[in-house]
Amino acid sequence: MKKIIANIKMNQTPIQSRDYLINMISRFDNSKNVELTLCLPYTSLSIGRLLLDDTGIKLGAQNLSEEECGSYTGEISGGMLKCAGVDTVIVGHSERRVKFKENNKQINKKIKVALKNGLGVILCVGESLAEKNTLKTLETLKTQIEEALKGLYENELERVTISYEPIWAIGSGKNATVREIEYGVKAIRKVIEDDFSLKAAKEICVLYGGSVNNKNIHAITHAKGVNGALIGGASLEEGGFSNLISLV
Ligand code: PGA
Repeated sequence: MKKIIANIKMNQTPIQSRDYLINMISRFDNSKNVELTLCLPYTSLSIGRLLLDDTGIKLGAQNLSEEECGSYTGEISGGMLKCAGVDTVIVGHSERRVKFKENNKQINKKIKVALKNGLGVILCVGESLAEKNTLKTLETLKTQIEEALKGLYENELERVTISYEPIWAIGSGKNATVREIEYGVKAIRKVIEDDFSLKAAKEICVLYGGSVNNKNIHAITHAKGVNGALIGGASLEEGGFSNLISLV
């Protein structure tokens, strides 16, 4: 079973999401070996919950607060997402890390809040171009994973997916090569082995994200150690995205 996550980002009004979802549902082939999660904007979650019910497609969100509740104007809590019907939430996307200055400590708190509220987590990790060029990829991945998963019990990893997303590959049209992806994914599993166990390293779900499209999806999802993909730009148009899913 391959996991495909669509990250809609800050696109779609609720009405646009409604049309998108109706189209996706009619095109989605449940018999294919794909688990599909659509991470919608907050304002589209209620229409998502309504339309995705009983379709086999899961509802996802793109972020949550590291706080449980209280005076945090504009924030959305894990409990709110759970009540809105969300199954899984993206945490630590590089756009949050870079543009909103989220750090590993906050990401760790967000993961704990998400798990406590019964949500699955997609933890995004990945190196910048400068880190890649100075051969710091492994060090970056290790720090990001260790700090994000600090204090978690091994059995909690069942609800955690890690998405390897080199920052230079996101929205750039420059996807990592299969070799680079396998190198990153192997490093991620090694960190899990060192910090948890070999069993956990083998079982944890690891995805790749960054300029995935119709042309590279098959090779990426069949790369060694890769369990699926997180897709941004190529998930926005239903026809193209459904075609991409059929190529997994
Ligand atoms: P992209 O986005 O597919 O547009 O590169 C990936 C992501 O959001 O992680």
